[in-house]
Amino acid sequence: MRNLIIYLLLVLGMGCRPLANQPNNTAAVPASSAINQVKDPEMDRFVNDLLAKMTLEEKIGQLNLLAVGFDVTGPVVSKNVDENIRQGKVGGVFNTFTPTAARKLQEFAVNNTRLKIPLLFGYDVIHGHRTIFPIPLGLSTSWDLTAIEKSARIAAEEASADGLNWVFSPMVDIARDARWGRIAEGSGEDPWFGAQVAKAMIKGYQGNDLTQNNTVLACLKHFALYGAAEAGRDYGTTDMSRQRMYNEYFLPYKAAVEAGVGSVMTSFNEVDGIPATGNKWLLTDVLRQQWGFNGLVVTDYTAINEMVAHGVGSEAEAGELALKAGTDMDMVGEVFIKHLGRSVKENKVTEAEINQACRRILEAKYKLGLFQDPYRYTNESRTAIIMQPEFLAAARDIARKSMVLLKNKNNALPLKQSGSIALIGPLANRQRDLIGNWSAAGDWKQAVSVEQGIRNVVGNKVKINYAQGANIADDEQMIKRLNAHGGNLDIDNRSSAAMIQEAVRVARSSDVIVAVVGESQGMSGEAASRSDISLPGQQLELLKALKKTGKPLVVVLMNGRPLALPWEEQNADAILETWFAGTQAGNAIADVLFGLYNPSGKLTTTFPQAVGQVPLFYNHKNTGRPFGGDLLDKYKSRYLDVTNEPLYPFGFGLSYTTFGYGKPQLSKTAIKAGESLEVTVAVKNTGNYDGEEVVQLYIQDLVGSVTRPVKELKNFRKISLKKGESQEVKFAITPDDLKFYNSALEYVLEPGDFKVFIGPNSRDVQEMRFSVQKN
Ligand code: BGC
Repeated sequence: MRNLIIYLLLVLGMGCRPLANQPNNTAAVPASSAINQVKDPEMDRFVNDLLAKMTLEEKIGQLNLLAVGFDVTGPVVSKNVDENIRQGKVGGVFNTFTPTAARKLQEFAVNNTRLKIPLLFGYDVIHGHRTIFPIPLGLSTSWDLTAIEKSARIAAEEASADGLNWVFSPMVDIARDARWGRIAEGSGEDPWFGAQVAKAMIKGYQGNDLTQNNTVLACLKHFALYGAAEAGRDYGTTDMSRQRMYNEYFLPYKAAVEAGVGSVMTSFNEVDGIPATGNKWLLTDVLRQQWGFNGLVVTDYTAINEMVAHGVGSEAEAGELALKAGTDMDMVGEVFIKHLGRSVKENKVTEAEINQACRRILEAKYKLGLFQDPYRYTNESRTAIIMQPEFLAAARDIARKSMVLLKNKNNALPLKQSGSIALIGPLANRQRDLIGNWSAAGDWKQAVSVEQGIRNVVGNKVKINYAQGANIADDEQMIKRLNAHGGNLDIDNRSSAAMIQEAVRVARSSDVIVAVVGESQGMSGEAASRSDISLPGQQLELLKALKKTGKPLVVVLMNGRPLALPWEEQNADAILETWFAGTQAGNAIADVLFGLYNPSGKLTTTFPQAVGQVPLFYNHKNTGRPFGGDLLDKYKSRYLDVTNEPLYPFGFGLSYTTFGYGKPQLSKTAIKAGESLEVTVAVKNTGNYDGEEVVQLYIQDLVGSVTRPVKELKNFRKISLKKGESQEVKFAITPDDLKFYNSALEYVLEPGDFKVFIGPNSRDVQEMRFSVQKN
């Protein structure tokens, strides 16, 4: 609210300026088409000319990114924005959108500054802008790269129609610790899969030509290793070997750079003992020199200031370290504009270093075509595309695809379109939670609740008997914390026993129970780690009471992380994981519940049996004492109180139909280094419904100069099979699939024996062997 007032004052202050006041020194520049092109002489000439006209203060001003507008996404907000802009001290803003608001601010910048340099307009468009798609973790469980790309394309269409030219996405941090709230924002635990999703999203956002008014600059984040926070606590320290960085955590970042991402955001954590934002090895040696990144690097929210608390020195020293490391733009913290002028005078940084950072920001603006037309993204008439029926249909489609059927005993699902349903649970008719965390400019009031979705899909054919049954959370402190940041949790003040009793009554008078339970959206996302990853509040008690009615119990889950659900797995008849599925969530859930869509999602994170097992991930190392399953075998890598098995493994997900896998065939059992081979498997739809299956291929390098994981995903194919139909699925295994970074960090293929695994998930696989011989 406070921010909205600041924003309105700003806009009103500028309101009297004529809209038609166009800049007059924005020299005509040719459209730049290739996004990550190495050389663009026209751009070089343009930026050189501009830099030559700029004072040191104006150059430092370009390095400043301010938070101003409708949304608050960090601990502090920028002040004196108009005065700073007027003085040429701002390179871009974020959290301002709508063409009217963006145009006013852009006009203000262009008309009131000496060189009329347009601003960048950024925003956290994470899983859709106005049409909200499933949270990124949910997008990933669709295993549908085309649909994921489309979601990013639609997000870019809407964001660019809404005044924005820069989105802070994709978030590609590998996450293996379910306690970490931001596991919701990424694509899960697998590096190779994360890389594929990163590429798809960048293509969706940036297209092939950033100067188009419907493409936006993407921002890869958070570089690097943010998802490996110690103890799963947000902003926590990260410490890992370079081996693990290069072979596991770096893969999606590198793939995004190769896909031409235009900007990179630094992470809050340290990497190898140095905060990422001030880490020259990371930002220059790895990102720019080894990977060839030539775009702009922006900090995360006040990340330079936070380097003081990390313990690197004063704010001025942190700023110097960040600039020298390769950071170009300072988000909100204003360290660069406060200190860099003096740092130059004191010879702590050079003007050439400032030129370099400024050049990258000007280049981003040039690539976006802002010097040609600063108002390219502020065309009111384009807002007509926002939330158009085609976008909503796409949101419904990918929401259905993102859902993972975790259990379906005796075909409890799909439900009949007749009789009565006890629709129970705190999330059964909620709207706020459905659009999830980081839902940008999404309006939760437009989200379709589960209750509404069921009515939309089956109308009056099914009688719905509703009871809330429990609150999402009961802990007052937790509720306070969530509501302080937009949780909108309204609490039913009845006793838990009374609420459960009512739900049981409703269940007894219905044919089947659909219990919609889980987390509130604020329990995942930024600064939302949990030490307990079971169902919060009294929801498990509610399920236990419902179970006693003897009615079929269908559990519909909404949550932003893997949960530990041992009781639910043992006792529910069916479990459908729906994450936070976006604007169309209720319709999509109803489609799946009633069999209008046959679920095809597969997990991209391992679900543990107990929180004590985390971090738990399928692609782990073997150890010298791998646990073989015999609990009496003492000196093995295991726990006393729980097995090493996950509750649900990576890649797992059921369908209403069943699929039979034939015996996979390898084209060769021995190849020379540098050669490829093929693996073929016949997959048959053996059940009663048409359906889709995600066929997965994993490999294991049995002997390595550095040890290799027990399994690594290297390919997959999502196929669609009619009832009774079969298909041969063929994969090529290429030399690249067999390479890894050795202890000298060289990317090598070491001849020797390999295993190939094929199957419907990472656990239930058939294995074969082949060898690679030296040339
Ligand atoms: C988050 C980023 C986000 C930024 C801007 C930070 O707190 O870590 O992911 O892009 O804020 O809102």
